[in-house]
Amino acid sequence: MQVSSFQPPPRTLMGPGPADVHPRVTAALARPTIGHLDPAFGAMMEELKGLLRYALRTDNPLTMPVSAPGSAGMETCFVNLVEPGDKVIVCSNGVFGGRMRENVVRCGGEAVVIEDDWGRAVDPQKLEDALKAHPDAKLVACVHAETSTGACSDVKTLVELAHRHDCLTIVDAVTALGGSPLEVDAWGIDAIYAGSQKCLSCTPGLAPVSFSERALAKVTSRSTPVQSWFLDLNLVLGYWQGNDGGSGKRSYHHTAPVNALYGLHEALVMLAEEGIEQSWERHHRNHLALRAGLEALGLELVVPEAERLPQLNAVAVPGGVDEAAVRARLLATYDLEIGAGLGALAGKVWRIGLMGYSSRPENILLCLGALGSVLNDMGHQADTGAALSAAQSLLAR
Ligand SMILES: Cc1ncc(COP(=O)(O)O)c(C=O)c1O
Repeated sequence: MQVSSFQPPPRTLMGPGPADVHPRVTAALARPTIGHLDPAFGAMMEELKGLLRYALRTDNPLTMPVSAPGSAGMETCFVNLVEPGDKVIVCSNGVFGGRMRENVVRCGGEAVVIEDDWGRAVDPQKLEDALKAHPDAKLVACVHAETSTGACSDVKTLVELAHRHDCLTIVDAVTALGGSPLEVDAWGIDAIYAGSQKCLSCTPGLAPVSFSERALAKVTSRSTPVQSWFLDLNLVLGYWQGNDGGSGKRSYHHTAPVNALYGLHEALVMLAEEGIEQSWERHHRNHLALRAGLEALGLELVVPEAERLPQLNAVAVPGGVDEAAVRARLLATYDLEIGAGLGALAGKVWRIGLMGYSSRPENILLCLGALGSVLNDMGHQADTGAALSAAQSLLAR
């Protein structure tokens, strides 16, 4: 058998994730593997938990990375908090709300789904109506940054409403964390999950989660066992919640992905060095520059301005343009990845991500130049020069 090492082609990642990984993170991944019960590793884990608390703006002791991708973070929240028969209100305005519903059903819960249009934020009034119509609901679940559409929902208001009706809350922050203002404690979020591969500039495969004391009390007082052994927090905590960095109190649950955790630690150190608020500002500033350039190319963003995410820009595909052919040309000629639309937006939008290390001026200029050139080649008039100067004038400020 003829085999050789895999060498990935060089790419600039400006789709819905993963985003470009910072070289400091890739360097951290390559450090020597040590035992996952080694005291030195335990000390790193403690630091990592503190860094996650900083990024999520929470003091929750139960804040840790799940050893699996964002979807496992989602499942961790649902399998631990939903018991058979529990009624859960799911706010759905895109792909990931749909997955939350699926999680509720698979946990034996009853999902009450409130739907909003794809490309719009969740309407708080619809949630309030549903809470009034279902006084027996126990949980409300919503997505902060809906990656499938680029819409940002008002999580603070949704959580407030849920609490007024005595419901716990589960929030998806996979794309939000690091890119959009997010305040776990100030907003009173009960359970939240995120992902490593988006605005944290890290590789895919880890899912930070955080549970409030109230949410944890629900987990520890369940009348039925959590049906997932791997994600049962009652068991996972034996490993992640040892009291210190090396007293031997941690117990084996699974073999932690040691090097992947070095990478997340490094990514979070970089976030702390930049400052979480400065990271939100960078994502916003770069979004404005990309937007100015896209508009100068004659393209439109589909999400209304007040509901737009800075880190995920859904752009309407102009009439007569083959959206898949444009993406293929960008990849083949410019090594540039942008995303396709999903579900209701399939074939109608491109999704341009500006997440984490991908949210940089040079990426914006590459994307505008490449997109303008490909559109022109395909017979769609676009003023690339105007797009570049529109973006540059904002980046120069
Ligand atoms: C909002 C949202 N939730 C959940 C997920 C699932 O994360 P993962 O693909 O890492 O499992 C994603 C991934 O793109 C996402 O964007």
